[in-house]
Amino acid sequence: MSKNHKHDMAAVLDALDHSDGDVDHPQELLVELQEGFSSDHKRLEKKTYEKELARLQYELVKMQYWVKATGFRMIILFEGRDAAGKGGSIKRLTEPMNPRGCRVVALGMPSDQQKTQWYFQRYVEHFPSAGEIVVFDRSWYNRAGVERVMGFATEDQVEQFYVACPQFERMLVQDGILLLKYWFSINDEEQEKRFQSRIDCEERRWKLSPMDIESRNRWVEYSKAKDIMFSKTHIPEAPWFTVEANDKRRARLNCLRHVLSKVPYEDMTPPPIEMPARPEQGDYKRPPF
Ligand code: ADP
Ligand code: AMP
Ligand code: MLT
Repeated sequence: MSKNHKHDMAAVLDALDHSDGDVDHPQELLVELQEGFSSDHKRLEKKTYEKELARLQYELVKMQYWVKATGFRMIILFEGRDAAGKGGSIKRLTEPMNPRGCRVVALGMPSDQQKTQWYFQRYVEHFPSAGEIVVFDRSWYNRAGVERVMGFATEDQVEQFYVACPQFERMLVQDGILLLKYWFSINDEEQEKRFQSRIDCEERRWKLSPMDIESRNRWVEYSKAKDIMFSKTHIPEAPWFTVEANDKRRARLNCLRHVLSKVPYEDMTPPPIEMPARPEQGDYKRPPF
């Protein structure tokens, strides 16, 4: 990383300061694809979707190139109800990126050893180094969601989390990590529809875990848990962004677009490159395999 880049980074961090943000409510994601598409409730047409997706994915390549060049560290975390479409969006987000520099972290339940550690420890292990983008498919927010609702954490642990989490995130942001938090929101009917299609379709059935089924029975508990989670963790330094996710295609495009809007990347496409002359083969004979 050059000295200049370090200097740039300070300016960029200044520009990213969210302190004027509205902390009462999660910021609605109002990034619309095009005038008129959001007001009707028809699904986004496939052709339009694919065209816009390709455009955004090309921008993501530029963004990653910039992140690498400037040595930025980025964490993008995805939360939301089961079947909200986190996985599909993460796939579209990371698809165009160079895996050397972009990782998806989707941790399962903690091991007995991990349960003895500081709560955030097993997540911190995966944090980005300079130039890296780490995507969390579910995150430390498990404590405020599934662990609270399913009783895997004690009330005390959950209360402690509400206090510790904002402190923890402030430390990350103050250290220069760019943290983006997305909540994928689907309604009751849409979740039912997606669960039903997973039940009906053998190829998709693996996607439904016993935990998912139980989460439907506890819809209201999850709603309450989510409301408290937002009220405790929607902070100016690390606000939540809600992605309206009943329409998968719109959700993906909006999310990708929003990520791009939060990174002040510049196009660093290398200048034209000249192909070297063909090498002389000399007396080398290619073997028959
Ligand atoms: P998925 O999100 O892939 O559908 P599950 O629905 O099975 O996975 O689990 C949801 C989340 O709950 C996961 O992040 C998982 O790690 C977490 N989880 C499951 N069981 C436990 C447990 N006993 N203690 C803590 N977390 C758990
Ligand atoms: P969420 O609780 O954010 O997962 O929201 C799930 C869906 O329910 C979203 O489409 C919300 O718009 C909707 N919703 C949230 N809260 C309420 C409420 N109190 N009454 C009716 N619908 C709601
Ligand atoms: C998601 O994309 O939200 C995943 O489908 C989560 C799940 O499998 O429930």
